[in-house]
Amino acid sequence: MAYIRLFFILLLLRLVSAYQHHSLLQDNAALLAFKKSILDPTSALANWKDDVHVCNFTSIKCYEQHHRVMEIDLSSSQLV
Ligand SMILES: *[C@@H]1O[C@H](CO)[C@@H](O)[C@H](O)[C@H]1NC(C)=O
Repeated sequence: MAYIRLFFILLLLRLVSAYQHHSLLQDNAALLAFKKSILDPTSALANWKDDVHVCNFTSIKCYEQHHRVMEIDLSSSQLV
């Protein structure tokens, strides 16, 4: 019985972790789509690209464990 309970707990943790990863992928896609929709004359968002982790994008902060974008500060990026 204890094994079955452990199995379900592990399964749940696995699902939660997959969901959180999925959320970060969505944040990544949303930010890249946003970038495509604007002009960036000073290349402030130059590192917003596929091969950079979204938590390392300029002006972006993630939650501690990288499960979700938490903060976006574009106030000095001169976007058009
Ligand atoms: C972000 O960049 C730093 C410095 O280059 C690197 O050490 C770190 O692994 C990167 N983080 C992620 C989540 O890729």
